[in-house]
Amino acid sequence: MGVGYVVSCVAIDIYAAKRQMPYQIVYSSQATVPMSVAGLEEILADARAGNKAQDVTGALVYAEGVFFQIIEGDKETVRNLMANIARDSRHHSVKVVCEGSVEGRAFESWSMAYLNATAEQMSAWAGLPGTSTLDDLLADIGRAPDRVPRILVSVLHALRR
Ligand SMILES: Cc1cc2nc3c(=O)[nH]c(=O)nc-3n(C[C@H](O)[C@H](O)[C@H](O)COP(=O)(O)O)c2cc1C
Repeated sequence: MGVGYVVSCVAIDIYAAKRQMPYQIVYSSQATVPMSVAGLEEILADARAGNKAQDVTGALVYAEGVFFQIIEGDKETVRNLMANIARDSRHHSVKVVCEGSVEGRAFESWSMAYLNATAEQMSAWAGLPGTSTLDDLLADIGRAPDRVPRILVSVLHALRR
């Protein structure tokens, strides 16, 4: 299971390594089978246990068969984790939407926050209301990864509601 295209959507900071800025990866994928509540709980339990052990934080959104996940932490840890997650048979078509060093963690108090969303909500969060299918939406986001920060802000708002 390979990782798809990589487009950087954050400003690259050449001093990031020195200042040990957190590293963030955002990807989307398709669930192998429609997820049951138990299946989602199992993924979240795996994610939260693994992330606590490695000081990784993030959020997982599940919308109608599509995963959208943000993971953040130490660069090498997060890149290794991404490779591990991409090999998981519970999903496929893993596509990294963007990755890079960031000023601070967006989800610092969550080992893995979780949100169940609809395609409509995802479209609204991306600022693309009316995008007909999640596939189209993911393709649009892939072409315009600068939309990702606003999606993250919307996810944060939804979590705090
Ligand atoms: C959609 C999805 C998201 C996942 N997110 C994480 C995560 O954030 N952290 C994590 O440790 N494992 C996550 N996992 C689980 C990993 O793929 C893997 O099962 C887990 O890290 C255990 O790997 P290991 O058996 O090699 O130790 C996720 C799996 C799926 C399907």
